[in-house]
Amino acid sequence: MAPRRTTLTQFLVEQQRSARAIKPELRLLIEVVARACKAIAVNVGKGALAGILGSNDTENVQGEVQKKLDVISNEILMEANEWGGHLAGMASEEMETFHEIPNRYPKGEYLLLFDPLDGSSNIDVNVSIGTIFSVLKSSDELGPVTEKSFLLPGTQQVAAGYAVYGPTTLLVLTVGTGVHCFTLDREMGSWVLTQSNMRIPEDTKEFAINMSNMRHWDPPVKRYIDELLLGETGPRGKNFNMRWVASMVADVHRIMTRGGVFMYPNDQRPTHRAGHLRLMYEANPMSLIVEQAGGAASTGSERILDVRPSKLHQRVSVFLGSKNEVDRIAAYHAEATK
Ligand code: AHG
Ligand code: MN
Ligand code: MN
Repeated sequence: MAPRRTTLTQFLVEQQRSARAIKPELRLLIEVVARACKAIAVNVGKGALAGILGSNDTENVQGEVQKKLDVISNEILMEANEWGGHLAGMASEEMETFHEIPNRYPKGEYLLLFDPLDGSSNIDVNVSIGTIFSVLKSSDELGPVTEKSFLLPGTQQVAAGYAVYGPTTLLVLTVGTGVHCFTLDREMGSWVLTQSNMRIPEDTKEFAINMSNMRHWDPPVKRYIDELLLGETGPRGKNFNMRWVASMVADVHRIMTRGGVFMYPNDQRPTHRAGHLRLMYEANPMSLIVEQAGGAASTGSERILDVRPSKLHQRVSVFLGSKNEVDRIAAYHAEATK
């Protein structure tokens, strides 16, 4: 007999019943997000056959040209989640302002934020891309949603996850009880639990950063990377390997699997003073996942999950992954300000 498989639905029911980690409304919300990711995966898999490669003529609020798949993925997530009755509002990388659930649908207490398609520069070259999402509980007692409703620190997230559209389609999820990985069974159309309680080793020999930005970095980042590059002959006394996929989901997933440190620091460029990645729907959900797996996530000067947001699309400096490396980077930043 084939071994018994735990589907996402069973896992979530279990989390609701035994662990009492989630309410039924949150369970249904996560299931809807997971279903939307399945629909995105189908589109990603069709590629040129469905005419979805390439760019639109539009720009998003960050001034980036939108890829067709950015827009399609955003629509899939919006349509799937709008009518379910569990949400008060949604916000996305691809929408300038938040979206309040229209009055024709029932409303719930949760807020959903997402990066519908992460790693857009990799769409047309057939490299792994993904979706990142964060769920917050609204404190507005079902009153009207405003931008302020969303501006909660990452510690307030009740769930976070990402999907990777790679050689296999994965969903990595936390509801605050560790991190669990589900693989999409494409024939059955179901998410199957394939790894429970993912853990990030505290030490690593692998780092991820876009080295082409080196000349713009601040001194603590330069110092840290210089030491890694010196390898066995330098102060670290060991050689480090480098990887950079340029899809945060893929880089973070590698770290979730075998450890490592991922960096997208702020730098001296006027466009990057605050950082590159977005706090609310990239850094916060990934930081919760990484911390839940025993790793750490820092801006260099503070824990990412403690950052008090002031804008929906605010950017943030990101160092995350194996704890001892992230702590070292934070220590170098602290020393530089003394
Ligand atoms: P997005 O495609 O959602 O805009 O995010 C891209 C992000 C992230 O996935 C990745 O780590 C980084 O941008 C890549 O940046 P560079 O092109 O500067 O390497
Ligand atoms: Mn992204
Ligand atoms: Mn994106």
